[in-house]
Amino acid sequence: MHSRDLRQKFLDFFHKRGHAIIPSASLVPENDPSILFTTAGMHPLVPNLLGERHPLGKRLVNVQKCLRTSDIESIGDESHLTFFEMLGYWSLGDYFKKESIHFTFDFYTQVLGFKKDDITVSVFGGSPKAPFDQESYDTWKNEIGIPEERIYKYGEEENWWGLASGIGPCGPDTEMFIDTGQPSCSPDCGPACSCGKFVEIGNNVFMEYLKNADGTIEKLPQKSVDVGLGLERLAMFSQNKTSVFETDLFSGVMEKIKKLVQTKDEITRPSRIIADHIRAAVFAIADGVFPSNTDRGYVVRRLIRRAIRYGHLLGLRGFTVSLGREFIRIMDSIYPELKEKENSILSHLESEERKFGETINRGLGEFEKIVSGVKSRGGEIICGSEAFLLFQSYGFPLEMTMELARENQLTVDQEGFKREFEKHQNLSRTATVGMFKGGLAETSEMTTKYHTATHLLLAALREVLGPEIYQKGSNITAERLRFDFNWSEKLSGEQIKKIEDLVNQKIGENLDVEMTELPREEALKRVKVSFDPAKYGEVVKVYNIGGFSIEVCGGPHVKNTKELGHFKIIKEESVGAGIRRIKAILERSPKS
Ligand code: SER
Repeated sequence: MHSRDLRQKFLDFFHKRGHAIIPSASLVPENDPSILFTTAGMHPLVPNLLGERHPLGKRLVNVQKCLRTSDIESIGDESHLTFFEMLGYWSLGDYFKKESIHFTFDFYTQVLGFKKDDITVSVFGGSPKAPFDQESYDTWKNEIGIPEERIYKYGEEENWWGLASGIGPCGPDTEMFIDTGQPSCSPDCGPACSCGKFVEIGNNVFMEYLKNADGTIEKLPQKSVDVGLGLERLAMFSQNKTSVFETDLFSGVMEKIKKLVQTKDEITRPSRIIADHIRAAVFAIADGVFPSNTDRGYVVRRLIRRAIRYGHLLGLRGFTVSLGREFIRIMDSIYPELKEKENSILSHLESEERKFGETINRGLGEFEKIVSGVKSRGGEIICGSEAFLLFQSYGFPLEMTMELARENQLTVDQEGFKREFEKHQNLSRTATVGMFKGGLAETSEMTTKYHTATHLLLAALREVLGPEIYQKGSNITAERLRFDFNWSEKLSGEQIKKIEDLVNQKIGENLDVEMTELPREEALKRVKVSFDPAKYGEVVKVYNIGGFSIEVCGGPHVKNTKELGHFKIIKEESVGAGIRRIKAILERSPKS
């Protein structure tokens, strides 16, 4: 089914069932300074989910433009996107779980022709916050007829939905997945697994609760349903494609890229990144967000410049305008603002590519020099002033330098970058206010917290499992930490709890994080290190967290553990023989 028909049939299906059609809101949220972009159809409806009457009634439906950068690392696979369209429908204090599950299922099977046998679901399994969602479970099992083995029960980390800030309307959800038929990656493989076997195609959230800023939870005066289905993924399955990039929403652009590229190398991932990022930029510019160094504009700049960098890898020059034009052609009948703003969109793409095109090669040359410098001094970290030079003189967004650094097994001192940035701002008295607001500051503040939390986690693992635990890998984003360590068995629930409790205990002890610089040999006598000592520089930084954790590390870290919030392990899995992986998050306060 062509995406145009899919949107229309979705709207018709719910309109026939009493839902009023509302237009897509702008990608720039109105009256909500807490978020940069609209990331779900429910954003503009928050007041109504909290109980305010909607002028069009209790049943609503729409197709909403959304932009999320949280999945940026996954772009390049079959199904992730930064910009996407969400097919959404809502009951505001009208019908609840049972009816909405039937609606979603009927739409999948009656309109899209999906088979019941291909659908796997998950429901909320219960937590201290709220009980197991028996009603959804029973509806799927007894009324729809999904067999028990395809109804997964998960906890809050998978089946609880609320706004990214964590504050506001929220509740348990039931999620729907298509089993692609790929073999399972492990005996534990299920819809929560990221191996690609299961692709999420929708989410019915039962908004029954309100989370307050102080972390307390209360019942909302009305029970609402917030449903979101990803248009691109539905198009992928209904068009019998194996990736969203092969659907009519992308195919024209993917063909264009293929024609432009001369190389015989594998181009799938870079071309998908380019297509995704240019599409997101086109829509953001149409909604009035222009590339810049502040807030939303910075996100758009990052997306365009990252696309240009991947274009360079494929030998492409001067390509963003023609791809932008193609996206406008694909989408303008649905989103007339694209046609209206075509000149502005294309001229912003053109100017961004011209500016960055002039400096990228020299910048990459400078980056190479920086890498040799860091490696020759035995270090692992690109310092703040080096990253700032790349930003200031060559237009490299910090995140791009971080990505390049990762490709070279290095990291970047983000705090140092921030300090340089602020210093420069003071000196030049230019008001580049807000750059750190939504983009970097948050990222940098959160990643700093996760760095410190990682130290506490390693120390707790040593305490609970034994002193022979070492770090085998670590990856930190603004959303979570990921930590690999040597251990061959699955951790029991009890062990996980002990580890979490210990980390939280240390956070609660308000321990100062102290840093001392020591000659390497001196430090190695006192500290157990996870890596080949030769990899460290002559002088190393030793971070000591109240004597509980002592590690050699480049930082950055928080000053006191009280800044961290509440530590929670959201996943524990195997990533190869003898190596386990933990994913954990920091919450503002414990979810009760
Ligand atoms: N708000 C929910 C989501 O984004 C359902 O639309 O998944």
